Amino acid sequence: MNSIKIHGNQPLKGVVQVHGSKNAAIPLVCASLLAKGKVLFRNVPRISDIDDLVAILRKLDCNVRFKGHLLMIDNTNLKYKPLLFEECSKIRGSYYLIGVFLTLFSKCEILLPGGCKIGKRPIDLHLDAFEQLGFESKTEGNKLFLVKKKEVTDVVVRLKNKSVGASLNALFSCLATDQVILENTLFEPEGKDVIVFLKQIGYCIDVEEDRIYYKKKSLDFRFVKHAIIFDRMETMTYVIMGLLCGNLTIQNAPIADLQYPLELLLQSGYQISFTGTVIKAKKSKGKGICLKTAPYPGFPTDLQALFGVLNAVGEGESVMEECIFENRMHIYSDLLKAGASIRVEGNKVYLKGVNQLAAISCQACDLRHAAALILMGLCSTGTTVIEQYDLIERGYEDFIRKTIAMGAEIEVLLNQVPNNVNG
Ligand code: EPU
Repeated sequence: MNSIKIHGNQPLKGVVQVHGSKNAAIPLVCASLLAKGKVLFRNVPRISDIDDLVAILRKLDCNVRFKGHLLMIDNTNLKYKPLLFEECSKIRGSYYLIGVFLTLFSKCEILLPGGCKIGKRPIDLHLDAFEQLGFESKTEGNKLFLVKKKEVTDVVVRLKNKSVGASLNALFSCLATDQVILENTLFEPEGKDVIVFLKQIGYCIDVEEDRIYYKKKSLDFRFVKHAIIFDRMETMTYVIMGLLCGNLTIQNAPIADLQYPLELLLQSGYQISFTGTVIKAKKSKGKGICLKTAPYPGFPTDLQALFGVLNAVGEGESVMEECIFENRMHIYSDLLKAGASIRVEGNKVYLKGVNQLAAISCQACDLRHAAALILMGLCSTGTTVIEQYDLIERGYEDFIRKTIAMGAEIEVLLNQVPNNVNG
């Protein structure tokens, strides 16, 4: 298990660049298989979830070149194979390949998706949409099988509940059908970026509130270049780092997509300012921020733990409620150990800001928990040890190196595997 030691309370200062969005890049890379012609993505984040997807595409005989933040995908030699590669069960976003395969091959066999353990995360809404489109599914152990059962030509598919993943997957899976209306969909900025790309490669899609209208037409060959939107969660992670520990300038910030969390920080008296695509965040104490997570444009669940750290050392009381995932409250037991004043009741947390946190030893459970623990360590007195810190690499490019470059004192302790471990 890899761990880090953070020697806390060092003032941080500097300029940091935000990269392309993880949650846009993952479905976009899968959607590249739907193109007729080569695709060049710019602004692709160098994170482990994308490396895993690239490995899958190569195993499917795609020609993939990944240089810096440019990713060129040529799917000319793509052929059907069961998706039984270990990478499929490592990441969550591999489930987007199901929708893509149903459109391309009318069938799919895949290992059940993995990803952050932040709740039960069933895929029943995806399967229900596939069924409405004529596909039958069955699960055996850790494998999922889907195959076309009946031909549908003109259909209205209604998602039973709002889901980011199921909305995109329903869209991916319906593209071989003549005419489809998808109802009750949910597209956050990342999903909207994917729709822009699908239109670029030639699909005929119209969006009207939570409805999607799709009409099939034949695709022509084209070489498509698409620049991925910048990551709103990475942006806010550095904003909060600045507010907790120093004076940071964050570049490439997708400010329009962050109106609600930025507004909350301003109203609470934190020292932030923004112009164009730049945010400046300066160490400051603000009033406790009360919030409930909700789909965009509400408060993002991915930022809940990070705002928890801010509230733990803010001024006064706050109440936060997690309404999307049922197991995203790990950070509060760590903050409690570090001296925060916290009471958790189900999916609600009551906080009262304290002056200072003390260093603890802890273990990260998921990507955003890892980010929140690192922020906690950076503003605590003493040396915080975080095991499994490298979960951060699933979604943040070069996070530790960048944080050190801004003045943090962090030691990376890599797990020493004995030479004879494999006999
Ligand atoms: N849900 C179901 N059944 C389904 C699908 C979802 O019950 O078939 C439930 C989920 O368990 C959850 C709720 O519906 O309680 C919402 O889930 P949703 O499908 O909207 O989220 P997701 O597609 O699983 C994506 C991001 C998450 C992000 C959420 C919300 C990816 C790969 N993941 O998850 O990102 O939190 O949307 O914005 O795009 C992260 O980046 O750390 C992360 C977890």
